[in-house]
Amino acid sequence: MWRSSLNTVLCTTILLLTTTTTTSDANRQQKPAADSVRGASQGKSPAPVILAHRPMDSWAVTVGGESGNIEYLARKHGLTNRGQIGNLKGVYLFTAADSVPVSELSAAKTAALGEDQLVVFAEKQRVQVRERRSGYVQPQDPGWKKQWYLANSVGSPRQLDLNVEPVWMQGINGSGVVVGVVDDGLEWTHTDLIDNYDSSASYDFVWDDGDPSPDGNSEEPNSHGTSCAGEIAMSRDCSCGVGVAYGCSIGGLKIDFNLITDAMESNALGHENSYVDIYSSSWGPSDYGFSVEGPGTLLQQTLATGVREGRSGKGSIYVWAAGNGGKYFDSCAADGYVSSIYTIAVGSADQNGRPADYDEACAAKMAVTFSYNSATFPPSGESPDLTWRDVQYLIVYTSNIDILTVDDLATNGAGLKFSHHLGFGAIDAEALVTRARHWTNVPEQQTIQTLYHHQDKVG
Ligand SMILES: *[C@@H]1O[C@H](CO)[C@@H](O)[C@H](O)[C@H]1NC(C)=O
Repeated sequence: MWRSSLNTVLCTTILLLTTTTTTSDANRQQKPAADSVRGASQGKSPAPVILAHRPMDSWAVTVGGESGNIEYLARKHGLTNRGQIGNLKGVYLFTAADSVPVSELSAAKTAALGEDQLVVFAEKQRVQVRERRSGYVQPQDPGWKKQWYLANSVGSPRQLDLNVEPVWMQGINGSGVVVGVVDDGLEWTHTDLIDNYDSSASYDFVWDDGDPSPDGNSEEPNSHGTSCAGEIAMSRDCSCGVGVAYGCSIGGLKIDFNLITDAMESNALGHENSYVDIYSSSWGPSDYGFSVEGPGTLLQQTLATGVREGRSGKGSIYVWAAGNGGKYFDSCAADGYVSSIYTIAVGSADQNGRPADYDEACAAKMAVTFSYNSATFPPSGESPDLTWRDVQYLIVYTSNIDILTVDDLATNGAGLKFSHHLGFGAIDAEALVTRARHWTNVPEQQTIQTLYHHQDKVG
């Protein structure tokens, strides 16, 4: 079995957030109209021609008990059933046909759904503001020698790199691990990616088909997902350099940053939780210091279900870019994706070991990497099956803060050094893998709830 249990997943995703690539309102209007047919003009291989739905004219519908005939339920309300949303059992996405006038899609529809006996809960989707992180501002230096952040061969006395070469030398290159990049698409036909491309880990949630190729144009090339994937999984000996986990399988889970809804995010992050091991997300609510936002109703459940049931019960690994609104004094504590207990929030340090200038500080940040980057290390060997919680512990214990320049160094109750800018330090691939080989699983998550605050209501 190629995904052998010996190849236990230990992953670190490292995302350097160069700058926010914002999307102007002008770009929003230039996107193909939602009712257009998938364009052949993009020179893509023939894709199924499917009419896209309007993501905002859709409902998440929770169906109670015996679900009965979902198709019938949808039709009764003049909607189309698009299937279960991600990993959420009993929750379906109903969309309005493009022919339905928008005027008919009012709150009355939500109310009618909510009143239906079969329906437990219905929520109309709305378009959210989500922006890419780790933008692709500078052309990437071609060639392995320039990838100083992987292995610093330029003689820096402080060895500011991810220390990944020793891991490769142990024969660990990501093989057996499946990574899904949740982003604006994946140019999987690219020579550097095609060998590692995994269509089973891919889906286009914008057009509802299996091909995650980006819908780019000159205004908005949608190349962010492809560059993030390259940092993870570029094949060895290709033209551009080498991915940190050049042997892993990589898929694209395509979302549309101009028309994103809670349901679309949930579909992507709940996609094939038993197949995809690691979900890499380098986007989030706007980083201009004005928004305090987190995952919606559906995504909160999706993440909780993912860590409980994903990866054969060991828990899906959700890696998140910590945000790049540092210039605007944004705090990643105001970002519920970053501060979720289910995500591993990663920031970035610059070549001098200082927080990058766009860096945001918060307690949720677990570690940093150099340059923008995502890495996946599966230690093969005798290591136990690592749970999502083990991975978090390993990052905390093995990250190296001593090589960084830290202004806000503090020691926590467990005696570990940390910083709100740099987390527990820089990811050290070798230390991570070494520690993982002899790791004892930490106990399951315990949740303690108190009814105290709800006393009046509980009565
Ligand atoms: C990755 O490592 C595995 C196991 O050591 C090996 O079989 C495979 O050939 C390597 N992949 C690449 C692309 O070198």
